[in-house]
Amino acid sequence: MSRYGAELKELWPLEPDMIFLNHGSYGAAPKQVLSEQANWQRQLESQPCQFINVVAPRAIRDAAGMLANFIGTHGEDTVFVENTTSGLNAVLQSIPFGSGDEIVISDHIYNATRNTVKFVADPAGARIVVADIGLPVADEDQIFNAVMAAVTPATRLILIDHIASITAVVFPVARIAAAARQRGIPVLVDGAHAPGMLDLDVCSLGVDWYVGNCHKWLCAPKGSAFLWADAARQNGLHPTVISHDMNKGFTFEFDKIGTRDASAWLSVPAAISLHEDLGGTHLRKYCHNVAVAEGRALAKRWGTQTGASDDLFGTMATVRMPGSLPPDRAISERLKTWLWVEKRAEIHIMPFAGAFWVRLSVAPYTTPEECRAVGPLIEAALEALATEA
Ligand SMILES: Cc1ncc(COP(=O)(O)O)c(C=O)c1O
Repeated sequence: MSRYGAELKELWPLEPDMIFLNHGSYGAAPKQVLSEQANWQRQLESQPCQFINVVAPRAIRDAAGMLANFIGTHGEDTVFVENTTSGLNAVLQSIPFGSGDEIVISDHIYNATRNTVKFVADPAGARIVVADIGLPVADEDQIFNAVMAAVTPATRLILIDHIASITAVVFPVARIAAAARQRGIPVLVDGAHAPGMLDLDVCSLGVDWYVGNCHKWLCAPKGSAFLWADAARQNGLHPTVISHDMNKGFTFEFDKIGTRDASAWLSVPAAISLHEDLGGTHLRKYCHNVAVAEGRALAKRWGTQTGASDDLFGTMATVRMPGSLPPDRAISERLKTWLWVEKRAEIHIMPFAGAFWVRLSVAPYTTPEECRAVGPLIEAALEALATEA
């Protein structure tokens, strides 16, 4: 029997009487990591001035160095941000787009990220070009070809996911970055899901900026994410909130923005240690294996298909739902509400590419049995909706 799944549940403060299959949305922090965060908060409140002025700046750099080690970057090029949304905003709002410039994104992009791109593109008169990848994804060529087909001589930026939220598909980031580099186009990666899900080595990807969450698959406290920028891209890169250390250098400017509680960032090393203690690569492999095996079993039960081949999934897998309901967000919200209220089950469902897709999220504490409950639960939800209608 695996030492993952049920045996690890007690490490998390998650309610025992629910089926929690949506680690992907916001992550979940283990008790040990939360207690480390509480220690930092106690230190802060016991000596507010010393802590904020002297202790925190050093501790933040130490924590950034440990994170850098884990994600394959260097501490001096890595800063903490509150979440992926704020890191992506910082990069996008720092690029001087002009009229006629094109920004390539894909149809798998996260909604908040799409909004941010629109927020910077519209006033500049820049054009957003959407690479149409679709779902299911047969192989990485489908992603690569769609993204590169969207590139023109006017492309000023390619913004891609490392792992897409709606579809759970892992993008061939290094391959896209190599092709972009040949054309002189910078690449920004939304890696919200990557730390703790993939064997991440950011510097080897050949991209220009990389943003990722620590609170999802690394299980750090909420409010911990990072922005890495290639040394050549740091000049002119500013946080969205300007504070004391404006223009003093990349790490200074991001490390201290007004008065804030850095305890989530300072607990990232504890989250990394726990992740490694639980097996690191081995743990990620367990989660991947359960996600793809249970995803395939669910597709078989429903006579449908998974969103991609096994090698294009990390620790999440998408499966097309049965039935012919119109793929409308209001319906997926009703199904999710019914699952929570009637069954205390947290299951992610999204409409995409003309169908509804269920996303299985497999975290260290997730059991295959919980994944197997998804089939009957979704079928019951669909039946309840049909009766209501
Ligand atoms: C692909 C992707 N990008 C960005 C985000 C935004 O992350 P956050 O809410 O931490 O800013 C998410 C969150 O789920 C995501 O999945």
